[in-house]
Amino acid sequence: MQIKINQKITSTKGLLVIPVFQEDFKKMPSLLPKNIQELLKFLERKENFKGKKGQSFSTFITQKNFPEKVMIFGMGTLSKINHRLSLNLGGQIGKVAKSSKKEDVSIYISGKLENFASELIQGIMMSLYRIDPYKSKIEKPPYELKNLELVTIADSDFAKNIRKSKIIAQAVSYVKDLVNAPANKVDAEYLSADAKKIAKKSGFNVKILDEKELKRQKWGAMLAVNQGSAREAKCIILDYQGAKNKNEKPIILVGKGVIFDSGGYNLKPLNFIETMHQDMAGGATVLGLFSALKDLGIKKNIIGIIPIVENMISGKSYRPSDIITTLSGKTVEITNTDAEGRLVLADAITYGLKFKPQYLITVATLTGAVGIALGDRYSGLMGNNLVLRKALQFSGREVDDLGWPLPLHPDFKKKMKSEIADMKNTDLGTARFAGSSKGAAFLASFIGKVPWCHIDIGGTAFTMDPKPYEHKGATAAGLRMLLNFLQK
Ligand code: BES
Ligand code: ZN
Ligand code: ZN
Repeated sequence: MQIKINQKITSTKGLLVIPVFQEDFKKMPSLLPKNIQELLKFLERKENFKGKKGQSFSTFITQKNFPEKVMIFGMGTLSKINHRLSLNLGGQIGKVAKSSKKEDVSIYISGKLENFASELIQGIMMSLYRIDPYKSKIEKPPYELKNLELVTIADSDFAKNIRKSKIIAQAVSYVKDLVNAPANKVDAEYLSADAKKIAKKSGFNVKILDEKELKRQKWGAMLAVNQGSAREAKCIILDYQGAKNKNEKPIILVGKGVIFDSGGYNLKPLNFIETMHQDMAGGATVLGLFSALKDLGIKKNIIGIIPIVENMISGKSYRPSDIITTLSGKTVEITNTDAEGRLVLADAITYGLKFKPQYLITVATLTGAVGIALGDRYSGLMGNNLVLRKALQFSGREVDDLGWPLPLHPDFKKKMKSEIADMKNTDLGTARFAGSSKGAAFLASFIGKVPWCHIDIGGTAFTMDPKPYEHKGATAAGLRMLLNFLQK
């Protein structure tokens, strides 16, 4: 997609979009071509159009050398414009362009919208995401937005912002591709090969711990989960040195990489199992994030840890009642084989602590319970450090990748104690009460004192009710929150 910034409309075809604020309604016409001024007057007279939110009109124009379709969006009052509205407007524009197959789109960006142009562009780019289907024949060439013209008299830092928007939208698409792909396509092997490929381009180092090495190092919890799988477990370690001071303590990001979560012997039922290829979304987020760090110029030392396993059933699988020894040395009684994410993360956290991090963030589709508590618009935020948690929540709010705090009561940790081992992975019977918090409480025992925040994307990573700039399926939840946070 080519993006051009012009002071006047130069496009002679395609779609023309004019967002109008209530306050600007009267001032705007002087900026606009004569025919559009007439159109706005007509709409005001006949349809009472005043730029109110939700008012939108589209029409065709038969003038030569002018876009053939015009859309006018009411934006509401100036004080209400924010990142989310702008992302959503971008999403709507992208979807209209796609459904009407317009390869050329021009947008008037006036007044306060100038400050939100990068969100608008990001919304457009994200809305144009497409999954290339695994079809033996491709019927039609897929739609592509070829030319995007931004019509504005603003002289703000447009070019720089557009570059950033592109980088972020690309990372979002990459994560969605990984999460949408089924487990027989994107597995530990695939992710490791991809990590190596991206590392070269994106300026970070990568190390893969294979199953032999994981055994040697005694990643007992992670390997127990993978016992039933025919495929080898792997752990991807990503190392980005962006800080000026090489010795600056790193930030550790751990992402759950369960290629498929059948539940194991606590098998998931119909309607719950089908989308469990999403269970590596945390890992995909960490990998996607690393793909953008250098291009965004992030000046921090960051280590990513992506433990990859598959939770399957076979004669070799781990069972409810097994007792396993984690990498930390702590023993865990398995009360539910479906609470596997916390086991995998426990070993990855223990490994991460060796780097003596500034702080550690876990991102995982850890619980279904978070979806019950918060739905699919808010990821759950839990941890042991209020400053870190608030910073993540705030960063998410700025980019409409929202998080909301859930409590970590000390008693939740007690409930994860076992009588026959150091801990158990679920508190049988009442596991569903505060399920997300108890999952986090289990992780907290492995974290110790290091500042830590946990992002539970169990309700947000995958959606059946997409926002205007999303699609059904993967959302890349957590990625834009983290990228915004790391850019501060
Ligand atoms: N991967 C699931 C959580 C999940 C469910 C993510 C639905 C996305 C959508 C996780 O491993 C799991 O099964 N958690 C259980 C824990 C329970 C057994 C304590 C859950 O939340 O039901
Ligand atoms: Zn599970
Ligand atoms: Zn899981």
